[in-house]
Amino acid sequence: MKKRLMRDGIWMMGAVDWNRRLFDSLIPLPEGTSYNAYLVKGSEKVALIDTADPELEYVLMEQLEDVERIDYIISLHTEQDHSGAIPTVLAKYPNARVVCSTKAKELLIDHIHLDESVIDAMPDGSTLSLGDRNFTFIHTPWVHWPETMCAYLHEERILFSCDFFGSHLATSDMYAGENPLIYEGAKRYFAEIMMPFRSIVKSNIKKVEGYAIDIIAPSHGPAYDKPEFIMNAYRDWTSDRVSNFVAIPYISMHGSTEIMVNRLLDALVERGVKVQKYELTVTDVGKLAIDLVDAATIVIGTPTVHFGPHPAVFSATHLANALRPKVKYAAIIGSYGWGTKAVEQISGLIPNLKVEVLGTVMCKGLPREEDLKALDELADAIAAKHAPLMKVE
Ligand code: FEO
Repeated sequence: MKKRLMRDGIWMMGAVDWNRRLFDSLIPLPEGTSYNAYLVKGSEKVALIDTADPELEYVLMEQLEDVERIDYIISLHTEQDHSGAIPTVLAKYPNARVVCSTKAKELLIDHIHLDESVIDAMPDGSTLSLGDRNFTFIHTPWVHWPETMCAYLHEERILFSCDFFGSHLATSDMYAGENPLIYEGAKRYFAEIMMPFRSIVKSNIKKVEGYAIDIIAPSHGPAYDKPEFIMNAYRDWTSDRVSNFVAIPYISMHGSTEIMVNRLLDALVERGVKVQKYELTVTDVGKLAIDLVDAATIVIGTPTVHFGPHPAVFSATHLANALRPKVKYAAIIGSYGWGTKAVEQISGLIPNLKVEVLGTVMCKGLPREEDLKALDELADAIAAKHAPLMKVE
């Protein structure tokens, strides 16, 4: 796509990655993504904010063909999907300065081997003038690396936020409006990389909301022309609110765990609890991560493989622990052939989850009536904990 005019002298640049289906070799991208850059011309200087993933840097370089000068390349975040094309842009504009946060300087040297002499490290709250346009740099650490910052353009009231408020969505729309598809893409993005830093993300929201913002321009997905749409979503996702929802990631090898999951699912529905099961060999783990953003309870279902949980359950549990969702309750259910240590091993995998364990139900072989009754009792325990949440909803 060609560069798109946002305001007089301000363009959305960069590449839409329509075909990408996996991010960080981890999270599926059903709707693709984008690597946005922004070109801002002032009366005296010209700045490029972020670049693009190296795989698609040719798109950015084509957009820059008729741009004669760039004085500043503002790098808001060092991860290579934004900084990766800086060396190529610098080769075209050898007099440009690379402007970044103080913590980013060392990272830019390490990750893309920039020469220290081209970098200007900017403290929190420092400013940069393009003449008639002026930036303030707002350090927003841990959204989601330690060096991340936003750039606020005063005259246009635009907050350039890089990953912060971004969404995984390939679209030709420059603005998000209040599109539910963008809400989903932003929640997927939040779940994957922001959720582990929920507390500090919350304080960074407070930091940027002190500025009058007309547009939030992230470096993934469309820009927000209604900033409250995404800021309210972030306020909710980072709050302590959980919903009347149970997520059940599971595997079943010979059907026993499936029977147990289905029994629990039915029992929960009968008790007014919302629930979703995720068979992990066919699950989009990004969808599971999205649902964990506000689920009150996680129930992990596993068969036993060599005394431990199934490796796919091990992996999903490890991921859930790393993402640090705000779930309040947990349970483990499953089956085994002759012996099991699955409960102990799964419990050891989730030290980051500050949960109350509501029960474990492990059955030997095919579930018997007493196993199914134990699942009904587990559903009773979950429903009792969810009762206040049901009233709210
Ligand atoms: Fe979009 Fe953390 O890079």
